[in-house]
Amino acid sequence: MLQKIQETADFLKSKIKSNPKTGIILGTGLGNLVTQITDRTDIAYETIPNFPVSTVEGHSGKLIVGKLGGVDVVAMQGRFHYYEGYDMKAVTFPVRVMKAIGIENLLVSNASGGVNPDFEIGDLMIITDHINLFPEHPLRGKNHPELGPRFPDMSEAYSKELIVKAKAIAEQNKIKVVEGVYVGTSGPTFETPAEYRYFRAIGADAVGMSTVPEVIVANHGGMRVFGMSIVTDLGVPGKIVEVTHEEVQEIGNKVQPLMTQIMKELVQGI
Ligand code: HPA
Repeated sequence: MLQKIQETADFLKSKIKSNPKTGIILGTGLGNLVTQITDRTDIAYETIPNFPVSTVEGHSGKLIVGKLGGVDVVAMQGRFHYYEGYDMKAVTFPVRVMKAIGIENLLVSNASGGVNPDFEIGDLMIITDHINLFPEHPLRGKNHPELGPRFPDMSEAYSKELIVKAKAIAEQNKIKVVEGVYVGTSGPTFETPAEYRYFRAIGADAVGMSTVPEVIVANHGGMRVFGMSIVTDLGVPGKIVEVTHEEVQEIGNKVQPLMTQIMKELVQGI
């Protein structure tokens, strides 16, 4: 694994002239932020050695290197989901590579179903913590001390400092944000009403099918993490209706520009 990470990092370093310290992972369909990246170099995942091979032909996404608000960043447009069939090492490989090229701060985004009864569709949730309910752990197996400790601390998986900064940015821009705990589950089914109730009961505010593996690996590697989730539907008793992928995308599209604004200013303030 170490050799593959190094190989991929060397390939990317040969393509990147700058020295970015901030990485961004954008949820599926949440590509609005990349329209704000200038001085761009786009690198298709297919062309990156050792990157997971897409299950959807030709649409696996790309890595975008450039400047966001004048600051050097590397952004992943599209991620690898566990439900697509990738194992956890593949899902989190890009995070290892980001660390190897010098990324210190990782910003992540996703869409989720809200289980907090105070939430509304279209809310932007700052992720304060997570619960890992994936059936496979990304750090299971031999630990490489070069990558991080055997038993990583997770007491501040999402940087408190970045959360405070993001809230201040939201307030200045009059953008409504909520805060909460994200529970990560494998999918690809959306939840039954009983499952939504269960997630609420164990302390979640929103549920989704991504992010947690990448955040675990980022913490293992000592990166600072900030996460935001767009609440695209509600798993709240009395408000549960049929959820479709299309609706999730549609709500995500509407709210994205607000998330982009917060992320852009946050990158500038890091
Ligand atoms: N459940 C799981 N993942 C999701 C949801 C949901 O309700 N909405 C968007 N992603």
